[in-house]
Amino acid sequence: MKQISIGIIGTGWCGGIRADSCAGNPYVSELHLAEIKEPRLKEVADRTRAATATSDYRVLVENQTIDAVIISTTPETTHYPIARECLTAGKHVFLEKPIALELSEADELIALAHSKKLLFTIGYSQRFNPKFAYVKRSIEEGTIGQPISALVSRHITRNLGNKIGGRIKLSPAAMEATHDIDFLLWCFAPRRPVRVYAHEVRKIMQSTHGVPDCVWMIVALDDGSAFTVGAGWVLPPAYPNFSSTWVEMVGTEGAIMVDDSHRDVSLNTMKRGIELPISTMPGEKVGHVYAGPMEAETIHFLECVSWGRQPLVTPEHARIVMQVYQAADQSAAEGRPVEIPPPKSSADLPRPETDSIKKATIHRT
Ligand SMILES: NC(=O)c1ccc[n+]([C@@H]2O[C@H](COP(=O)([O-])OP(=O)(O)OC[C@H]3O[C@@H](n4cnc5c(N)ncnc54)[C@H](O)[C@@H]3O)[C@@H](O)[C@H]2O)c1
Repeated sequence: MKQISIGIIGTGWCGGIRADSCAGNPYVSELHLAEIKEPRLKEVADRTRAATATSDYRVLVENQTIDAVIISTTPETTHYPIARECLTAGKHVFLEKPIALELSEADELIALAHSKKLLFTIGYSQRFNPKFAYVKRSIEEGTIGQPISALVSRHITRNLGNKIGGRIKLSPAAMEATHDIDFLLWCFAPRRPVRVYAHEVRKIMQSTHGVPDCVWMIVALDDGSAFTVGAGWVLPPAYPNFSSTWVEMVGTEGAIMVDDSHRDVSLNTMKRGIELPISTMPGEKVGHVYAGPMEAETIHFLECVSWGRQPLVTPEHARIVMQVYQAADQSAAEGRPVEIPPPKSSADLPRPETDSIKKATIHRT
């Protein structure tokens, strides 16, 4: 094990969680923060006892002692240029989804990471939700046989819909269903998506933000199996950033139904009535423990950098997810099923699962 120096660019909601997860972790020798909102920078830097804190992320890019960078900025237009700068400077990169706005940008980042032998992974946090990991393991171990069909229905509050819609015109397919597309392609691997039919509904968010309220898509895979993802962001305001998810995975030998609807903890107060705490997608700290997937995902990245291992999510996975949600956007716009082109080269294919245990070369500047 090698201790690593880590930088975090953007310490808002997710970046703040990632900074807390890194602070005091034995893998981390130093934590460096960059955030353009000065009060938030100070708050997180004080809390995490960061080694340095700056409003200019280029200070982190130019700091040769920093091994790896977590990029948690918004709007999402910042992901590709900041990731490109960090990879060019020889940093391992953890980038929040989406990997980029265009496939060509994703391709450039993937090629850059490979050419410099750097670890590059994308924040698909739901793979670190133990219930979701259980579904994957049940397929891998053959408990439910071969997957036949699956459904994920995910709804979040309109507070979040407004936050996302207010900063960028990306669809719920690109910003929300993306987690579930990634999860289901992971479960159905090595099957490939071949066709997508999607429908969007525009009754609430269209007038305020010009984005749909929800999307429902059917994705056909190359062996004839299929999955459905529904994702919406117009639930009434609830426990800040409440999320509710159902999963049905049906296989040849069994089925798994997952209730991740966060109705299991109910708080009732004179002041605020009934609330459903610990119910956000990334999770939150509860005293001495973390409830949710984001802390485990962050520590996984630290471990991978420290030991020189390929992270669970490869950028090629994120690229295929992008192909699916872009096809869903196109299908919804044109009202017809959209074909997903076969990979041009093996470089477009996710590396096999066994790669996750291969040692990667740690690049040092
Ligand atoms: N994995 C998950 O469960 C999950 C959940 C929510 C959001 N996300 C993703 O994480 C990303 C961050 O989302 P969020 O909700 O934390 O957003 P946020 O708006 O709360 O935080 C983003 C922060 O980046 C800062 N920032 C913007 N430009 C910067 C720059 N040039 N240098 C330094 N800081 C800069 C902003 O000031 C802000 O504080 C989004 O792209 C989103 O897609 C992932």
